[in-house]
Amino acid sequence: MWGGRFAAGPASIMREINASIPFDKRLWKQDIAGSKAHVAMLAQQGIVTRADAETISAGLDTIAAEYEANGVPVNLDLEDIHMVTESRLAELIGPVAGRLHTARSRNDQVATDFRLWVRDAIDEVEAGLVGLQRALVARAQDHADAVMPGFTHLQSAQPVTLGHHLMAYYEMVRRDRSRFADARARLNECPLGAAALAGTGFPTDRHMTAAALGFARPTDNSLDSVSDRDFALDYLMAATQASLHLSRLAEEFIIWASQPFGFVKLPDAYSTGSSIMPQKRNPDAAELVRGHAGRIMGCMTALCVTMKGLPLAYSKDMQDDKPPVFEAHDLLALSIAAMTGMVETVTFRTDRMRGLAESGFATATDLADWLVREGGIPFREAHHITGRAVAAAEEAGVSLDQLPLEKLRAIDDRIDDRVYAVLTVDASVASRKSHGGTAPDQVRARIAQAKEELG
Ligand code: ARG
Repeated sequence: MWGGRFAAGPASIMREINASIPFDKRLWKQDIAGSKAHVAMLAQQGIVTRADAETISAGLDTIAAEYEANGVPVNLDLEDIHMVTESRLAELIGPVAGRLHTARSRNDQVATDFRLWVRDAIDEVEAGLVGLQRALVARAQDHADAVMPGFTHLQSAQPVTLGHHLMAYYEMVRRDRSRFADARARLNECPLGAAALAGTGFPTDRHMTAAALGFARPTDNSLDSVSDRDFALDYLMAATQASLHLSRLAEEFIIWASQPFGFVKLPDAYSTGSSIMPQKRNPDAAELVRGHAGRIMGCMTALCVTMKGLPLAYSKDMQDDKPPVFEAHDLLALSIAAMTGMVETVTFRTDRMRGLAESGFATATDLADWLVREGGIPFREAHHITGRAVAAAEEAGVSLDQLPLEKLRAIDDRIDDRVYAVLTVDASVASRKSHGGTAPDQVRARIAQAKEELG
């Protein structure tokens, strides 16, 4: 490509360090789409003849069919997807292929290809996250009033419903989707036509290529167009946040599937056995989702460090932008699919959840609140009285609602038998009707809204 200036070819080690074709072949569809949009514009503007543009465009279609059928040939001599495709075009249609690269550079070409690729990746993630939300909503609806212990510090805190707990993840995923949507809106400007760094003297129409590729508009500064990768970082940061949420859900499944908890039975399809311990049923898929979050964050960090301190405009360091994005995307897509599958098929042991919710004095706050409400007692004092009631129940080996009235009245005689109405776990969750609270009515109302949001 630059034989005019160079007398000797590259050292083999140079060939190896320089080549990006082993990974950037994943951009082939976007590269061909970009080239077709570019050559159509060149013809429209009279920069190449219509006949040449048609020959080039037909040649690009042939190459796309070849790649589709046989994959992209990995030839390190040709360095990257742009040169592999251009050189194949020259083989197919002869010297007219050389007119395609008029008024563009690989710098704006790769920036365009990569934006298109990340845009497609976002669309794929968006579809996956919607699927996960649907699964969460469906299971939450089945269990809108199934009582389970709610935890703080992983200690039984107050009863909640399983539906409420699952819907918490619905909200996280909703925000993840909005982060990806923001990233998509920001990246949707077309750098094609910025050329190497300064723009071009040819009478191009950048609005035409931007529209042809589905971008909202062309970018407004040629230096910025070829030198920033913030769109890739936006993607990686959104991916990192989404993977953190997936990892927390995975962690809950891992804890819940453990024998001491026994809240869920993970499906066979997402578990593995042990080669030595026949009783084992390991939550491998969930553990890998938890693990992948670390790798995705690593990819994000890698590209941050690559970009940090690079002067304008393009530097070859930026070729390293693609592997972390590809890796993170593959990991994220798999993680979303695996979590969706687990949410859809996990068996919730609601009897066990209820049993534990009833055994942990989880309605102590309800007793204290009752003393405040019915007895006019300051909360701090009510807290103290309730603490004594919990100690009495613990000593008697019963739950709070099983403690006889005389025992409660011995602690504080302002207590009467109306208190029992608030001491069951069902009464407790039903009472938490504040906006966003765990009362089954509230949970069902949010589920109905969520279904509308999902369409
Ligand atoms: N393979 C290169 C990359 O991914 C394409 C741009 C090369 N441009 C250059 N001036 N060497 O970044």
